[in-house]
Amino acid sequence: MKLLTTAIASGLQGELTPPGDKSISHRALIFSALASGESQISGLLESADVAATAAACQQLGAVIRREVQAGRSLLYVTGTGAKGLAKPSQILDMGNSGTAMRLLAGVLAAQDFDSELIGDASLNRRPMRRIIEPLSRMGARIESTAQGTAPLKIHGNRSLQGIDYHLPVASAQIKSCLLLAGLFAKGKTCVTEPGKSRDHTELMLPVFGAKLNKGCCVDGGTGLTAAQVEVPADISSAAFFLAAAAMIPESDVLLRNVGVNPTRDGMVRVLQEMGADIELIEPRQFGEEAVADIRVRYRTGLQGIDIPESWVPSLIDELPIIMILATTAEGVTRIRGAEELRVKESDRIAVMARGLEALGVRLQEYEDGIDIHGGSLGEGVVDGEGDHRCAMSFCIAGQLAMGPVTVTGATHIDTSYPDFVKHLQHLGGSVEVQPAVPGSASWHA
Ligand code: S3P
Repeated sequence: MKLLTTAIASGLQGELTPPGDKSISHRALIFSALASGESQISGLLESADVAATAAACQQLGAVIRREVQAGRSLLYVTGTGAKGLAKPSQILDMGNSGTAMRLLAGVLAAQDFDSELIGDASLNRRPMRRIIEPLSRMGARIESTAQGTAPLKIHGNRSLQGIDYHLPVASAQIKSCLLLAGLFAKGKTCVTEPGKSRDHTELMLPVFGAKLNKGCCVDGGTGLTAAQVEVPADISSAAFFLAAAAMIPESDVLLRNVGVNPTRDGMVRVLQEMGADIELIEPRQFGEEAVADIRVRYRTGLQGIDIPESWVPSLIDELPIIMILATTAEGVTRIRGAEELRVKESDRIAVMARGLEALGVRLQEYEDGIDIHGGSLGEGVVDGEGDHRCAMSFCIAGQLAMGPVTVTGATHIDTSYPDFVKHLQHLGGSVEVQPAVPGSASWHA
């Protein structure tokens, strides 16, 4: 699938609610599947990644029912609770989703049955030793490829031992994987990390009745109880329109119910630091999660900045769109300490550098980041290389480039934001979908 974009005559304008938070959606489903009783989830992200988690939860014995009330989808999940998860009859396919694979691996390592996790070509390239190693220390037996990648053959072991583990990288997926395994292990499992990664697991576990001890520790043998979760809109999806409104003259965009958890709000801080006109309206809570409406109005004079390394975990998924933002700022924007970007759905530093160079942007690539020189964006063909966030970022670049920008390799947008094109058009953006398969006008096809 290709996206054809052209610069818009006036800015993006209007209001919308971006889709549900992907990280919170995965967790709400997995915790509900493990809990006893019926949980209720509103605002769940309905995308390919979350569908993979939902399908796996069903394979493991959870019963999921969907209703639509007042145009909003409600999910009822009856968990397996004390009865325990069922052995899946098939290999569990996690598609493009690292979160689904890593979190479920933690759960499955502690069961009394064997299971197997696979992913698509991108996920099967991503590093899994980061979870295999600590899970093995807990007593798990997981087979991977010689490169430490999926498929993962998990030999379930009901007798895992809790561990005290210091993560080598700030990663909420590793942290959550170990805390989930720790719920089934003997003794305590404690996790520390070099930087503060997103804390949705820590916030949500107590909602499902699991006590989180000082630091980041769970007690083994803790069962979960059904709960209600209201999922905020995903700041990582909102980020495309926050950045677009900050860059495109005459823009004025209001995004509703956006999650602004302090471990995820680096994008807001970057926009403030660059001099954008951004306002958080009515800060409030959706359960344990902070949300706000966010308004961005175009203002001239965005400044390039050095993004502090300590901010990186709080904006890791927003770095591709921040790179686009940087092209419109005065001076240089420097990103460092972001080597994790190289092992996301694609090598995001390389994919963004290739695409930006194709649009005539001056940049220097580093192993752990990039320097981007502000200037103008030219026309051209850029390849999202199957990475949803890179493809959407290039599509935003096309809204203000000097000529048409065609984005190839955009099919995976449905992993996190199936309505992206519709939402961009709603705000006045210029984008057309050219389907890969003649006659199929949508990625739902
Ligand atoms: C996620 C954690 C981050 C993030 C990913 C979602 C999560 O990955 O990039 O999109 O839901 O826990 P890492 O844990 O690899 O940093």
